[in-house]
Amino acid sequence: MTERIVKLSDASATQMLGIDLGRSLTAGSVLLLTGDLGSGKTTLVQGLAQGMDIEDSIVSPTFTIINEYFSGRLPLYHLDLYRLSNAEVDDLHLESYWLGLETAPGIVAIEWAERLSYLPEDYLRIELTYDVVDGRVAKISN
Ligand SMILES: Nc1ncnc2c1ncn2[C@@H]1O[C@H](COP(=O)(O)OP(=O)(O)O)[C@@H](O)[C@H]1O
Ligand SMILES: [Mg+2]
Repeated sequence: MTERIVKLSDASATQMLGIDLGRSLTAGSVLLLTGDLGSGKTTLVQGLAQGMDIEDSIVSPTFTIINEYFSGRLPLYHLDLYRLSNAEVDDLHLESYWLGLETAPGIVAIEWAERLSYLPEDYLRIELTYDVVDGRVAKISN
């Protein structure tokens, strides 16, 4: 496992981290996003989409659970598990996204990933926390 800490002094820094990932991640990548409400998970996914050349506006799928975008260099599957229990998440069989069973392989970004009781074999975890000095801090591990 490797771990790095990135200081995010404002929302554009969060977005820029997403843009970098959106340019570099390969098909089948899974991003597990954790952090309190307002910690910047959706902001990061907005950057991710921009880095993948997706021009649609990205709104949090808090009610729809899953938004899919196909206009970029790879498909983006944006999930928000906030409103679901762990048992409800289990029933969705989200592994079909990262195994590419029913969907074209793309990048899977999951907000409230702590609701998952099963994880993909490979993933990048980004834990966002509030920081009095730095705005937000991202701990990135795999
Ligand atoms: N590094 C940062 N420093 C300060 N504010 C930030 C930072 N990153 C994002 N924000 C702001 O904080 C809010 C986070 O909202 P959002 O991305 O929807 O969070 P979440 O999806 O985690 O609930 C937005 O208003 C965004 O502009
Ligand atoms: Mg959000």
